Amino acid sequence: EEEEVVEEEYLFKVVIIGDSAVGKSNLLSRYARNEFNLHSKATIGVEFQTQSVDVDGKEVKAQIWDTAGQERFRAVTSAYYRGALGALLVYDISRCSTFDSIARWLDELNTHSDTTVARMLVGNKCDLETLREVSVEEGKALAEAEGLFFIETSALDSTNVKAAFEIVIKEIY
Ligand code: GTP
Ligand code: MG
Repeated sequence: EEEEVVEEEYLFKVVIIGDSAVGKSNLLSRYARNEFNLHSKATIGVEFQTQSVDVDGKEVKAQIWDTAGQERFRAVTSAYYRGALGALLVYDISRCSTFDSIARWLDELNTHSDTTVARMLVGNKCDLETLREVSVEEGKALAEAEGLFFIETSALDSTNVKAAFEIVIKEIY
């Protein structure tokens, strides 16, 4: 009897970056486990989840890395970015300071990774429309200027969460 041939799988590393409390960990838990936590604690160090995605009938595995937005809780920066093929740069649409920080996160990403990394600008917490401080147009304009994909998401009500990750994963593939 013939031996079963296990097909080589694709494993892509994707990193999530952005200021503390923009919702990085909740985007990941919503995507990977369909879970949301209203009282989540700040991430310390690095966490990751592996998620299988079907791309054109092929199973692609994304290893998605999540770290602390707060400098004092962050792990070794170069190790975090090493081998990353995709990145989500997240801000909170209800806090413009987190949008202003994107330039800094982009600098760090560019310093530690290849320019070919698929990059998505993510305006999270779009459920907080009444508290909005960053317009959709501002987000789009920055993304266009920097050559990033752009999407608004809500980890709370699930809007566009799957799309945010899977557009990046499909672009890598
Ligand atoms: P650090 O780990 O400190 O870098 O923060 P983080 O970016 O991982 O933020 P986290 O996911 O822990 O979320 C911070 C807070 O925002 C929590 O109270 C979440 O419940 C809340 N939150 C996250 N996503 C959303 C969202 O889409 N909408 C709303 N309304 N709240 C959200
Ligand atoms: Mg976190």
